[in-house]
Amino acid sequence: MCGIVAYIGKRQAYPIIVKGLQRLEYRGYDSAGVALLHQGQMNIYKKAGKVTDLIKFAEGKELNGNIGMGHTRWATHGEPNDRNAHPHWSESTIFSIIHNGIIENYAALKEALKSKGHTFTSDTDTEVLIHFIEDIYYAEKVSLEEAVRLALGEIVGAYAIVILSKQDPHKLIAARRASPIVVGVGTDEFFVASDASPIVEYTKNVVYLNDNEIALIDNGKLTVKTIENQVKTPYIQELELQLEAIEKGGYDHFMLKEIYEQPRSIWDSMRGRLDAKTGHLRMGGIAEFEGKFANAKRIIICACGTSWHAGLVAEYLLEDLCRIPVEVEYASEFRYRNPVLFEDDVVIAISQSGETADTLAAIELAKQKGATIFGVCNVVGASIPRATHAGAYTHAGPEIGVASTKAFTAQVAVLTLIALQIAQKKGTITETRFRTLLTELEAIPAKVEAVLKQNDAIKELAARYVDSNNALYLGRGYGFPVALEGALKLKEISYIHAEGYPAAEMKHGPIALIDDAMPVVVIATKGANFEKVVSNIQEVKARKGRIIAIVTEGDKEVRTMADHVIEIPETDDILVPLVSVIPLQLFSYHIAVMRGCNVDQPRNLAKSVTVE
Ligand code: F6R
Repeated sequence: MCGIVAYIGKRQAYPIIVKGLQRLEYRGYDSAGVALLHQGQMNIYKKAGKVTDLIKFAEGKELNGNIGMGHTRWATHGEPNDRNAHPHWSESTIFSIIHNGIIENYAALKEALKSKGHTFTSDTDTEVLIHFIEDIYYAEKVSLEEAVRLALGEIVGAYAIVILSKQDPHKLIAARRASPIVVGVGTDEFFVASDASPIVEYTKNVVYLNDNEIALIDNGKLTVKTIENQVKTPYIQELELQLEAIEKGGYDHFMLKEIYEQPRSIWDSMRGRLDAKTGHLRMGGIAEFEGKFANAKRIIICACGTSWHAGLVAEYLLEDLCRIPVEVEYASEFRYRNPVLFEDDVVIAISQSGETADTLAAIELAKQKGATIFGVCNVVGASIPRATHAGAYTHAGPEIGVASTKAFTAQVAVLTLIALQIAQKKGTITETRFRTLLTELEAIPAKVEAVLKQNDAIKELAARYVDSNNALYLGRGYGFPVALEGALKLKEISYIHAEGYPAAEMKHGPIALIDDAMPVVVIATKGANFEKVVSNIQEVKARKGRIIAIVTEGDKEVRTMADHVIEIPETDDILVPLVSVIPLQLFSYHIAVMRGCNVDQPRNLAKSVTVE
């Protein structure tokens, strides 16, 4: 979603801002803009399209200035065009603003401002906010920071904003509510961004603003206060992020790099948490809440997209291993349907970014109803880990490709560890099975590595199906969430329509779609449902569908029926998602590349969905 970068210090702001915007491109956007303060002038350049379009547009123009801000916009209010791109001016063009989020009461504010003579040049809610701030500034005769504070007190909605003033070239104001802002603290310079990636190469010292906090950087000094006017001492943290982690490192795309990182990222998600040799498993994050989990009458999992699919795997695991009833909820539905929650419910919120607006809102709702909330997140220090009672990080490292890959496998690995720890605590698993699963888990990275070695064969297979218009993905049991995830990967990056279904459900509708042009990807690994899946494959073959089967190494049965097989190393049934999803990620990746799609930034998608 929208991205923010701002700089104030002694260096030229423009190169830092533009590079920062490029680092934020992974979030997804459709226009970009900058504002630069120089010799009493504020120069704003903005353009629909990519940051490179903005750079071309700005060429030869005045780009000097030691203070400035830049924005990548993912359209919510108003089309993605030059006019609606940020920054936006205030009425008298003294102030300008960039904004992530949505101002929900903008329409009423706009009407009120129009009646006072304000005119607007865009369709955005953001422009309304800066006009509103300016209105207060003049009406109340207060400083800009005070006008910002008073205005934000009236705002309904979510925002991360940065504001500059022509009248005050040493001042930069930022604020947040439900949309992240990080302030990087350098030597006599400050960086502001919507995540740490534009900042990491300049400083490791950062301050994460909390909701309803305003940062004022004025003449080299940072002060933080709340919108209730309470002064806060900025808490400076050290960033763990490494620069290499946010660069492509020789791969053509971030997505491919991230697929290949999985042996390592799965290992990192388990590192220090389990030791099969000694039978040790310790998820520090749940230690304090182990009893709560073990006694929970119900676990509710809230997430969106790929994280929801990881939640579905967790449902199977937790019911299977811990005998606790589990419900997996789309956070966006959960938050609006007056759900029944009890104090002894445990809610697990799963999110790669830790910023997903619907998941955050679901957490707040569950908290209000007294439930205990546990987070499974990847981005350290993000809003969700800060909003939950406890949690576990997935430690997959930064995921830049919009399509989630390594975050999914790390989520599944962490959720497996959680299920195992609770099962052990509850006594719902035998020591032998527990130990077997720990050993199998430790073997997963090597098995993923083995699948990655088949990349060339998977690429050839992708070439055969590159012109497909539709695809069906089928699985049963632990293979079902994998089918959903495989279908999501294909549709989001290649724009081929793909559906994931429980294999048996196929005959209740989707079977009507099957003909000799329909690729049907089936998770057909050895395990509890193997024979049933084989029957489903036969049903597809009887209708001339083209079967691509993910099978266990050495399989002889499915091979005789399928058009193509991809073998994966044998593992325990409950760990199959961690290995079987890998060929599906590669398959989607190659198809998308062959179709000329923008794999890392698919159209219309955003990496961190901070609006509902
Ligand atoms: C799909 C994908 C999205 C996210 C979803 C939730 O590849 O990336 O479906 O999984 O937007 O995002 P997080 O996990 O950040 O809450």
